[in-house]
Formats: sequence, C-alpha cells, structure tokens
Amino acid sequence: MKTRITELFGIQHPIIQGGMHYVGLAELAAAVSNAGGLGIITGLTQKTPELLAKEIARCREMTDKPFGVNLTFLPTVSSPDYPGYIQAIIDGGVKAVETAGNNPQKWMPLLKEHGIKVIHKCTSVRHALKAEAIGCDAVSVDGFECGGHPGEDDIPNFILLPRAAEELKIPFVASGGMADGRSLVAALALGAEGMNMGTRFIATKEAPVHENVKKAIVAASELDTRLVMRPLRNTERVLNNAAVERLLEKEKSLGANLKFEDIIEEVAGVYPRIMQSGDMDAGAWSCGMVAGLIHDVPSCQELIDRIMGEADQLIRQRLAGMAG
Ligand SMILES: Cc1cc2nc3c(=O)[nH]c(=O)nc-3n(C[C@H](O)[C@H](O)[C@H](O)COP(=O)(O)O)c2cc1C
Repeated sequence: MKTRITELFGIQHPIIQGGMHYVGLAELAAAVSNAGGLGIITGLTQKTPELLAKEIARCREMTDKPFGVNLTFLPTVSSPDYPGYIQAIIDGGVKAVETAGNNPQKWMPLLKEHGIKVIHKCTSVRHALKAEAIGCDAVSVDGFECGGHPGEDDIPNFILLPRAAEELKIPFVASGGMADGRSLVAALALGAEGMNMGTRFIATKEAPVHENVKKAIVAASELDTRLVMRPLRNTERVLNNAAVERLLEKEKSLGANLKFEDIIEEVAGVYPRIMQSGDMDAGAWSCGMVAGLIHDVPSCQELIDRIMGEADQLIRQRLAGMAG
C-alpha cells in the first residue's frame, strides 16, 4: 500500500509502532520494521544517551529496514539529557523520530539539519496544527481511546481524525484503538494515511515483555481500562488492577488536594516491575481500550500480514461491492 506515510518513511506498509516505555526495545522495533512497518525504540527507556546509542546499534544488527526513536518530552523539572539523546540518534543514522509530550520546537532545527523526519504525537487538532507550523513532517493523532496519555479533551477518533483531516496539510496517522485491517481501512476513510499502534504490538511474540503482560492484554475487554491522574491534568489510560483501584480511591478521597506524592507508590518506577518481572499488580501501566480487540499473540510479521490482507479484502470486496 502506498500513502504519504509510506513514502515519507520509506516503509512498505502504513503501520507504525508507537514508542512504549520498557516495551520499545530493539527486538520489537526490528521485528516491526522487518515486517514492513516502522518500528520505534523508546528513547527514555535507555537511561543514558550511551545506552540509547547501544540500543540503536543492536536494532541495526537485527534489521536493515528503517526504524525510528521515540523522544518523549516530559514536563519534569530535572530534564533528561535530550541533547545527548538527539546526538545518539544522529550518530546512529536514525532518520525518523517520534516526538511526544511537550512541544518539540526547540529541537526541530537540529533534527531537520540531519535529514531526520519528525512525526509528533498529539491528542488535539490545535496541537497537530502547532506541530505542522513548527515544521514536523507528520503527526500521529491520538484519540481518547488510546493507551497512555490521551490528553484532557476526550475526543474519540471518529471525530478527531476527520477534524484533523479538515485542518492539516501534512500527513497524519490514526493512533489509539487501532488493532486490525478494519482499523486501518477506517483510519484511511477518515483521512489518515496510516495507523500507529501501541497496545496491539505488546501482545506479539517479539515484544520483549513478561508473558503475564501479554496474557493480561488478551484477557482484558474494552471495559477494563481506567483513567488515572486526571486531577493532576496528566491523564493516563491504564489497565485496571489492585494498584489502580487504590490510586482511584486516593483521587476520590483527596479530591482537589491530590498531589503527585500521594500516588507515587502506584505510578513511580512501576514499568520494570510490570514489563520485566510480570508483577501485574505493581502499579498503573498504560493500556488502550483496544485490548478488547486483541485475542492472540502473533508474531509482528503475522500481525502486519494479517492486517494488510484484511485491509485489502475490505477495500476490494466489502467496500467495492457495496459501492456497486
Ligand atoms: C505500555 C505503554 C507505554 C507507552 N509509553 C509511551 C512513551 O513512553 N512515550 C510515548 O510517546 N507514548 C507511549 N505510549 C503510547 C503509544 O505510543 C501509543 O500512542 C498508544 O499506545 C496508542 O494507543 P493504543 O494503545 O490504543 O494503540 C505508551 C503506550 C503503552 C500501551
């Protein structure tokens, strides 16, 4: 399939694997890229720029296809060494960066100077337009359904994607709730030029996470996610568990007085315990409503081939047949 996204990133299929903390390691990024999508290494999961450089080199050994790096710009006081991470990306010859979180404007000249394509992830049309204005090559439009941080506007993709299509000139991918060929065809119909998936890619053979995580996603329905940290305006969609219920109780009882310190036990340092040790009640971890559409753990190749096969059939048979 050829779209502005496949052309931009030099990939076979318009499918991107979103950056995911403690999931987006070289194994997953390489498997997605080898299957014709765009795999993404999660920059900040590597504790230092040196470690990111090693992860990029490791990925390069596993694939000769293009892959990218996610840079999440956190609103924290003690900022990670972003110049160091960007240098590792440049030195590693990576030509695609997925930015997320805060506005990446400050880093755009450096990235552009080195011919790096930037896709910024955003949850609103106004942020997407801002990304376009500062020179991003594409955006990933993340609807309310998404795993991770859906923002505070709560606009689902059936509205957000066509609104983005009405306003944007640069290409965009649909993100949040995407799982299969139906998602891809719907996303294309709504004006996107491809799709970005997070949760779906965790439940794959190559995702380097504990089996318990994959089992939890397969077992979950679309009713099993919760929104946490809304009172802190840092809303995150997570899979429900004992820690999340505790966290929500604290949010309820403390109300407007809630501070980050109150919930630190449920949210800080949780990812290695969940993703590596499979301690599923360790805390709150991002997961999309799309878990309800995930029923198996295929390889990335099987998943992407299946998506493209389904999409082709939907377009050529179901839709073409209906159009008569
Ligand atoms: C476990 C997990 C961790 C994530 N970590 C990050 C991250 O570190 N940075 C980021 O930009 N997005 C992160 N995301 C968001 C994904 O890249 C993607 O935008 C989102 O999962 C799309 O929604 P979906 O899960 O419905 O496919 C994470 C998502 C999940 C499920």
